Amino acid sequence: MPYYRVAGDIPAKRHIRFRRPDGGLYAEELMGEEGFSSDSSLLYHVHPPTAIVKSEALADVAGEAVLVPNQPLLPRHYRTQELTGQGESWGADELVLGRLPLMGNDDIRISFASAVGPSELYRNSTGDEAVYLQAGAARFESVYGVIDATAGDYVIVPRGTIHRWIPVGHPEPVKALIIEARGHIRPPRRYLSQTGQFLEHAPYCERDLRGVSGPLLAEGEDMPVIVRNRAGLTRLTYAYHPFDVVGWDGCLYPYAFNIADFEPIVKRTHAPPPVHQTFEGPSFVICSFCPRPLDFDPQSVPVPYNHHNVDSDEMMFYVAGDYSARQGSGVGIGSITLHPSGFTHGPTPGAADAVIAGMESGRLTTDETAVMIDTFRPLLLAPDSAQAEDPEYAWSWARAARG
Ligand SMILES: [Fe+2]
Repeated sequence: MPYYRVAGDIPAKRHIRFRRPDGGLYAEELMGEEGFSSDSSLLYHVHPPTAIVKSEALADVAGEAVLVPNQPLLPRHYRTQELTGQGESWGADELVLGRLPLMGNDDIRISFASAVGPSELYRNSTGDEAVYLQAGAARFESVYGVIDATAGDYVIVPRGTIHRWIPVGHPEPVKALIIEARGHIRPPRRYLSQTGQFLEHAPYCERDLRGVSGPLLAEGEDMPVIVRNRAGLTRLTYAYHPFDVVGWDGCLYPYAFNIADFEPIVKRTHAPPPVHQTFEGPSFVICSFCPRPLDFDPQSVPVPYNHHNVDSDEMMFYVAGDYSARQGSGVGIGSITLHPSGFTHGPTPGAADAVIAGMESGRLTTDETAVMIDTFRPLLLAPDSAQAEDPEYAWSWARAARG
């Protein structure tokens, strides 16, 4: 989707002779979605992007984690703030091999990482990724160029993009939620005109999307790249550094969007989560809950109403501020909750009265920031997530109701 961009040097027309200073031809690489029938970018490499010299299978600790059904059915609460980034299941303290899977299904895998070191070069060929930085800062380097990412950024990485993550600002680790799709992650179709421009009612627009700066020219030979496909991980060694692009143009590239640039939509009475939608993927949506005025009818109940999305499982990641609807439940910054289909969820009993009392004494805004993922098929649980689970969460509504 994101609109057309040009970086570096490109020739006047596609597929004409474009020569290096030494007289040789630059090597074209068309990165394209849906078999030449959707968005693409055309990159010009100094060296052939096809030149590989070695291929080795690589252990895939995270990818081979067996996900188990949420059975017996329970709402869940995981405290990522208690994950230390240590231990065998993490693999490494970086943003590619150091992902701890939390939950997933055939459409999506959701992981958490706490990273201090640089990742290897990486290409995910199973689908797009959305990497949400909760804390810290990182330099994202790719064949297209660089994004300086910081807390609050969603970095959308198109399928097949060779890239790496380099945390900056040590000793603070980068804490990130990683959403791996089995397809493409895009702005919601309803936000866009027929030709793809953001419409006026959309809560963000092109000006809020940060493309890459670059391109990025790096020297190097025999460069390993970790490639994920449906079968697992392979380490492919390329004869030349993949970051040897002198220019590219097109509509397919990584970009960043900061959650603080989401313009909240507020109603007089409580608005449902679709007003918070930020991206859509195959069989899931991503929403951003941002600081905003509380619902402003004098009689409004300014917290969510109990609801049961019969077709969805809902994961919520609480990243900043004070989420008043879940006061008293143990949920805090860094918490992840899972409210599955089959269970009606809502605010902690008593939360509505507490917020109403706050309004009457002048508190008219909420400073909550949260990322929500609704999946249209049940989320399975990764066994490693149990190390951060709050076993009392499921009973928090009853506990509050009984006083
Ligand atoms: Fe919900």
